[in-house]
Amino acid sequence: MDSSGSDFSAERYFATQPPPPSLDEDIARVRTFIRHQLQAGRKVVLVTSGGTTVPLELNVVRFLDNFSAGTRGATSAEYFLKAGYAVIFMHRQFSLQPFSRHYSHSTHPFLDFLEIDPSGSNNIQITVTPSERDQLLEVLTAYKEVHRLGTMHTLNFVTVNDYLWLLRAVSKELSVLGRNALFYLAAAVSDFFLPRQKMSEHKIQSGKGSLHIEMDQVPKILKPLVDEWTREGFIVSFKLETDPALLIPKARTALETYGHQVVIGNDLHRRKFEVVFVSPREPCSSGKTNDAESTFVETWIRIDLAKDPKKEIEEDIVQELVNRHHSWIQQSKQS
Ligand code: PMT
Repeated sequence: MDSSGSDFSAERYFATQPPPPSLDEDIARVRTFIRHQLQAGRKVVLVTSGGTTVPLELNVVRFLDNFSAGTRGATSAEYFLKAGYAVIFMHRQFSLQPFSRHYSHSTHPFLDFLEIDPSGSNNIQITVTPSERDQLLEVLTAYKEVHRLGTMHTLNFVTVNDYLWLLRAVSKELSVLGRNALFYLAAAVSDFFLPRQKMSEHKIQSGKGSLHIEMDQVPKILKPLVDEWTREGFIVSFKLETDPALLIPKARTALETYGHQVVIGNDLHRRKFEVVFVSPREPCSSGKTNDAESTFVETWIRIDLAKDPKKEIEEDIVQELVNRHHSWIQQSKQS
């Protein structure tokens, strides 16, 4: 074990676990994208979204998964784009994506609101159900504009290993933007994994009674992210809990341990209408703080879905972050 109590330090992790085969190509594209945004003078946000898997075999048949549909990440990415940011959307393959999320096959299937208009036999037209047109027009217009401007770049991960390698490489690339880079780490990342060296090559066979697997702890990646890979970026992590009493203490501990800018706490069952921003309090003139109460400040964001069922809490989360990121950039200009 290393001093942080984890089986693997980040350094040891990357020295022993192989990178995904497409890493170099993926990062070359990210580099080009960032260069383009730098020239255009845009801020860039890295949004991570969806859950990571932990394969149990090298020829993978079985894996552990992490809960997350990718709603938080995909929705937030749209609001960042609307706010003028360029977005690197790093998401679990097949999880929700910006724009197409409005037409999820399970909740709002696209084919259900297309109609065939056979008015001319040689000229069949496909039309959109009138009640869906306004929303489709709005989504499509925003989507086309993002394509025209080239302000979104998409990356995929599946396993926790893919995620860690990509996060490290992308964050190093983003460091050229200094304070203009924002990290919005909404992915649900596995805490445990099976190192390649311990994996069975072939499908684990049943018939030998119960299965015992000992997993190693995934290194806490926020530490090197803040200290080494991207020292100036504005870093926002998420904390998901099912016991509301743990939300604020755990968020404070994360800030104490990693030294980043904001933890957004969300309770599993309330996350669509309530989140809490926890951040270090600005030092007062005496520079002294006594305890956690005065060291951290909490800001709750709540929306009333009964009054406004179409409202998305991500709109307010992103607005708050855009303001804070702006102040963060201004501070560095003054000092
Ligand atoms: O996608 P939805 O269904 O809308 O759900 C959204 C969400 C509830 C998953 C999201 O809002 C959320 O809370 N995501 C973080 C959940 C989580 O896994 O928390 P954590 O305690 O494991 O990690 C804390 C932070 O550190 C996260 O920002 C994570 O990206 C990051 N992390 C965690 C472990 C690790 N080894 N490296 C990391 O970078």
